[in-house]
Amino acid sequence: MNILLIGSGGREHALGWKISQSEKVENLYIAPGNAGTGEVGTNVNIGVTDFPALKQFALEKNVSMIVVGPEVPLVEGIYDYFKNDPETTHIAVIGPSGEGAKLEGSKDFAKEFMVRNHIPTARYFSVNKDNLQEGFDFLDKMNAPYVLKADGLAAGKGVLIIENLGEAKKELEAMLGGMFGSAGNTVVIEEFLDGIECSVFVMTDGKSYKILPEAKDYKRIGEGDTGLNTGGMGAVSPVPFADKEFMNKVEENIIIPTIRGLQKEGIDYKGFIFLGLIKVGNNPYVIEYNARMGDPETEVVMLRISSDFVDLLEGIATQTLGEKNLVIDKRSAVTVMLVSGGYPGDYEKGKIISGLENVKDSILFHAGTKIENKAVITDGGRVIAISSYGNNKEEALQHSFKNAQVIDFSGKYFRKDIGFDL
Ligand code: AMP
Ligand code: GLY
Repeated sequence: MNILLIGSGGREHALGWKISQSEKVENLYIAPGNAGTGEVGTNVNIGVTDFPALKQFALEKNVSMIVVGPEVPLVEGIYDYFKNDPETTHIAVIGPSGEGAKLEGSKDFAKEFMVRNHIPTARYFSVNKDNLQEGFDFLDKMNAPYVLKADGLAAGKGVLIIENLGEAKKELEAMLGGMFGSAGNTVVIEEFLDGIECSVFVMTDGKSYKILPEAKDYKRIGEGDTGLNTGGMGAVSPVPFADKEFMNKVEENIIIPTIRGLQKEGIDYKGFIFLGLIKVGNNPYVIEYNARMGDPETEVVMLRISSDFVDLLEGIATQTLGEKNLVIDKRSAVTVMLVSGGYPGDYEKGKIISGLENVKDSILFHAGTKIENKAVITDGGRVIAISSYGNNKEEALQHSFKNAQVIDFSGKYFRKDIGFDL
């Protein structure tokens, strides 16, 4: 079969790497892809939300499955676009409907969904311009720190955690006043949960589900989890504190009620559910839902799936996921992200990347790269995810850190403490 994968980051290179290993795949296309995805398939220069161009390409190339990497096309309704058009309804889109993607696209929608379905999450109150005073009253009753979340998509930047009550009120007004554009027209105020975080990924065909390996990502730019938030500086799987007892609670208290809730509410969902979880005491709470796989978590999760991934994706498409077999690799997998100097602030692109051919014992997933005059050059803040296996995370990290020295470009930076807290 021919598959079209949508996106251009490390997540998509990792998905493409795994998809291309399946004997079921004839051609893999990636739109728009990067220098790395060009090694596992054919890059196609179409933007992730250009649905008419994606449709035309898919028909031309006889594509029967579209795998959607990032959230924006999902929230913009790519699933519905293909499903509702008689010319493309036969093409399986792996990803939820626009309504399902609201679990990520609207924090207020996600909170209401969790409350209706008795899924453990932080207490909250949703504020807009019309009930600002009630928002202030809610803040008055809470303890510091105060968590404010823009309702809509804000490229991972829409969450503020503030110590001081007066400042929290000021920031709440600023958010409603357009600090995050229309994403902040509604703001969710949340109770602060104190615990340790991890990500759990679920595949669902809307009826049954499979739980993929969990992972922990490292979002801050600085060692010891300090400094600004990034798209993710590294990841580790498995996560030791996500033990059997914890994962049983995740399944019983969160995954099952989520799938049942989607069914009950008639929400069409055939794709990935990313649970951003926090362990408080011994119990999991949902910090956020995402309607897609995580980045850089995918760069470790794909390493830990031994089964044919395309077979699982077919299970989603044909609602036969329950009959499929998911085999997990027992080894540890880690990824260390090389980033451009200055990221997540201003940084330069176009630096020549050297040493790629000398990498041994790791798998490289390109995040922000492209090819120019036959050279691989940097083309983003996050540049390359260096993923490795090991019998434990220390062994895996050794491989990744070794190769982080082998690969070079001007301004290269990476965190040397991935996994430090586990
Ligand atoms: P989100 O975009 O919802 O994942 O939030 C970004 C980050 O803010 C999370 O990864 C957490 O570290 C933190 N965070 C969000 N909500 C809470 C909360 N209710 N309590 C504590 N930390 C939170
Ligand atoms: N690693 C977090 C995310 O993909 O949103």
